[in-house]
Amino acid sequence: MTDSLRRADEGRLRLGVNIDHVATVRNARGAGYPDPVRAGLMAAEAGADGITAHLREDRRHITDDDIARLAAELTIPLNFEMAATDEMRAIALRHRPHAACIVPEKREERTTEGGLDAAGQFTALAPLVADLRDAGIRVSLFIEPSARQIDAAIRMGAPVVELHTGRYCELSGAAQADELRRLTDAAALAAKNGIEVHAGHGLTYDNVAPIAAIRQVRELNIGHFLIGEAIFIGIAESVRQMRDAMDAAR
Ligand code: PXP
Repeated sequence: MTDSLRRADEGRLRLGVNIDHVATVRNARGAGYPDPVRAGLMAAEAGADGITAHLREDRRHITDDDIARLAAELTIPLNFEMAATDEMRAIALRHRPHAACIVPEKREERTTEGGLDAAGQFTALAPLVADLRDAGIRVSLFIEPSARQIDAAIRMGAPVVELHTGRYCELSGAAQADELRRLTDAAALAAKNGIEVHAGHGLTYDNVAPIAAIRQVRELNIGHFLIGEAIFIGIAESVRQMRDAMDAAR
């Protein structure tokens, strides 16, 4: 890659499309369709830079077979979202996806409700981060935008953090502006320490712009809204419109 191409790539905000909820619809009837792998391939064709899939411990949406097929069939990077368990470590090491994002997981939650407590669980998480890194997998920690969590990520040697935008998306007015400031400060702190910054959770066409405008953020991972919107306008168009909203904010 030439220097100018590399510089252009460094400035570009990547879009990772999370296809979990295609599997949610499939699993509602126990049928073989709609196929999340087909959705991933179509999202890639429409301009997604990566595909994200969360193999939850209860397999409520994505299945082991989906992960195997995504790993085999995608021509863009797969970001494997995983809980910090021995089972998920073994699956990650078997498929060696481009990236793995370690997320907290509670069985009773509807979605990943908060960030990983990287500071509180340092001793348990550090060896997992090391194992995944050693296998050549780009590890990220899904954390709240706080200096304490970023400090833990630095000490753990995590190359990437994904900042949880769920709270920002739920708030409005001054409270949302405060949360945006926390996200902006956290992104600056992480980047200053050599950590690549991603963000995601709850993002839509209406709330994505201020997050996409944070200079240090290199990748957004977006799922539920895009898959919902795809019902009305198709997945290619829903991905394209998000891409446009991100680019316009940058
Ligand atoms: N990033 C992470 C780490 C997640 O766990 C999720 C939800 O699975 C997302 C991004 C995407 O969130 P949403 O589906 O709300 O766009």
